[in-house]
Amino acid sequence: MRYIEFGKNKALVSEVVLGSMRIPQMSVAEVGELLRVSLDEGINMVDTADIYGGGHCEELIGDAMAANPGMRDQIFLQTKCSIHFGKNGSYFDFSKDYILSAVDASLARLKTDHVECLLLHRPDVLMEADEIAEAFEELHKSGKVLEFGVSNQNPMQMKRVARATKYKLAANQVQLSVAFAPAFEAMLNVNMENDPAIMRDGGIFEYCERKGMAIQAWSVFQHGYFAGTFLGASEYEELNAELDELAQKYNVTPGAVALAWILRYPAKMQCVIGTTKASRIRESARATDFTLTREEWYEIYKSAGRQLP
Ligand SMILES: NC(=O)c1ccc[n+]([C@@H]2O[C@H](COP(=O)([O-])OP(=O)(O)OC[C@H]3O[C@@H](n4cnc5c(N)ncnc54)[C@H](OP(=O)(O)O)[C@@H]3O)[C@@H](O)[C@H]2O)c1
Repeated sequence: MRYIEFGKNKALVSEVVLGSMRIPQMSVAEVGELLRVSLDEGINMVDTADIYGGGHCEELIGDAMAANPGMRDQIFLQTKCSIHFGKNGSYFDFSKDYILSAVDASLARLKTDHVECLLLHRPDVLMEADEIAEAFEELHKSGKVLEFGVSNQNPMQMKRVARATKYKLAANQVQLSVAFAPAFEAMLNVNMENDPAIMRDGGIFEYCERKGMAIQAWSVFQHGYFAGTFLGASEYEELNAELDELAQKYNVTPGAVALAWILRYPAKMQCVIGTTKASRIRESARATDFTLTREEWYEIYKSAGRQLP
């Protein structure tokens, strides 16, 4: 496993991260096994959120860590808040009171007195940066949160948060896979009149790289927005053929090649995997055993149905 230095504390965290959005149907023992296999593979970071399974995913992780003495101390635990359930569904809430209450509820479910990192999950248009800064201050002073980051935020939004708080933003978690990479398309089609030239993210990747922030890719095996995996999918025949060929060359699985493609971007990259299978955790961990050549990276890019200018 390869590691990056994370945030101001420079903790060494794995480039492959275990996500937990899809575990709500699992038992505590099964989740404990996923955590154990991850640690055995050198994956020391776990990502969760207060909304996954309506809080049940955090409970499962908390129970699994409690059932395995010593496990909590080996895990760099990250959770998220800001998706607030109201009487007519959800909305986004970066208010100080909501952030503070959400973290207390997460810590209770996780059965821990702190998390290593807290991410603001989805942008709240009504955000007031000073309120976020006050919440960060209280959470850090009380020892409940060691590092802070964001998710799905563009550079202007990150700048608003960063300007108000003295705590360096450690990470931004955004959607990225070989079959979902609008940010890379925009980087390649600068000032052109085609659709890939549309910059939808405002330069998240360049901003994070410059600020030394970790870029955490979510839905690394999916295409579209929760549209399903591209691995083995008939509409991605050429991509799968390319991944298969490189998997043979590097003696890994096609999935590991797809992760290596993300990790090849020259910033502090992390892949958050959402599998519920121990075997796929082991296979994914191999993604840091090799580095794709520049030519291979572009071949994969093109095989997903894209053209270079
Ligand atoms: N910040 C955000 O807004 C945000 C949004 C979404 C997710 N996330 C985080 O990112 C994590 C990962 O997201 P994700 O779960 O969408 O990621 P993912 O790893 O792309 O998807 C996992 C799903 O793909 C399946 N899969 C993996 N390899 C496969 C293969 N070779 N063939 C067929 N199916 C395969 C898995 O099935 P098996 O379980 O059977 O392996 C699982 O259902 C989440 O757990 C969460 O922590 C964050």
